[in-house]
Amino acid sequence: MKRIIVTGGLGQIGSELVPFLRNKYGKENVIVADIRKPENVDEIEPFITLDVRNEEAIISAIKENDVDAMYHLAAILSAKGEENPQLAFDVNIKGLYAVLEAGRKTGLERIMIPSSIAAFGPETPKDNTPNDTILKPRTMYGISKVTGELLALYYWEKYGLDVRGVRYPGIISWKAPPGGGTTDYAVEIFYYALKGEKYTCFLREDATLPMMYMPDAIKAITMLADAPAENLVHRADFNIAAMSFSPKELVEEIRKYVDFEVEYKPDYRQKIADSWPRSIDDSAARKEWGWNPDYNMASMVKDMVKNLKKKLGL
Ligand code: NAD
Ligand code: SER
Repeated sequence: MKRIIVTGGLGQIGSELVPFLRNKYGKENVIVADIRKPENVDEIEPFITLDVRNEEAIISAIKENDVDAMYHLAAILSAKGEENPQLAFDVNIKGLYAVLEAGRKTGLERIMIPSSIAAFGPETPKDNTPNDTILKPRTMYGISKVTGELLALYYWEKYGLDVRGVRYPGIISWKAPPGGGTTDYAVEIFYYALKGEKYTCFLREDATLPMMYMPDAIKAITMLADAPAENLVHRADFNIAAMSFSPKELVEEIRKYVDFEVEYKPDYRQKIADSWPRSIDDSAARKEWGWNPDYNMASMVKDMVKNLKKKLGL
């Protein structure tokens, strides 16, 4: 990989993946692409406006920028996707198809596509969920993630297009806000706690879900991108794990640093959370490309509090 486009590059993960990749490959060699134009476009350059549903525009962007790899992050996440399933289908499935076709036609060396714990469903074993198990999600987002996992395998076996990805748990970070997922509470809650404001949590206090701190999320996808192809049995369906906690457990950990009030008012997102695992078995990722996380809940909370205090000027 020498010249990379990051689609959805202005989002929660792109905002941290892009600086990491630019550090590694050079600023000019990592192009941020998004459907929205940032106000500070000069700081973000090279930047292109790109709708991933437009295959011709993707092909032009690849050719004009002499690109050989893509990180395809553009997506509608689980909660937003249930508010507008048609948009989620359009962006997540038609957009992915356009990216894969563009990659096939231009001969890209590699495409990285994150999947999610949303690929699982109510019938999946909830604890220590195996890598290869029942995939019957009930959200449009989850359906799009299973589709992506299957298409990655298909394009590899049929065309030799090297498409890889991890099933991210909920990602926690302090630089950019999350984009409309079921796990967003685990980021929002820090802002309320540090400002001394009461937080109303949209999940039940015992809704345990797998989570990961952003540095581990960046480490995982870039490690997999660099892994020797001959070591990989799986493609875009790697379970990865770091920590699991409930809102109540997260509140207790944050209260070690700052006291704040919380009430629980579960909404439609609780049903989504109920269909996802509590914890993940990531032994395939450990075996095939040496995955291991650096952060647990305690070290994540400590780092979040330190960085967010600085960011908020507290
Ligand atoms: P995000 O919502 O923060 O960012 C998505 C970006 O895509 C946004 O900047 C948005 O403007 C852009 N976008 C939307 N529609 C587009 C279109 N048609 N064309 C081009 N750009 C478009 O998402 P994220 O959290 O950064 O997630 C990145 C990837 O990781 C997604 O595939 C997501 O499903 C996956 N993932 C994220 C998490 C998480 O907790 N953040 C967990 C599991 C998987
Ligand atoms: N964090 C994501 C979401 O809640 C999981 O894919 O949608």
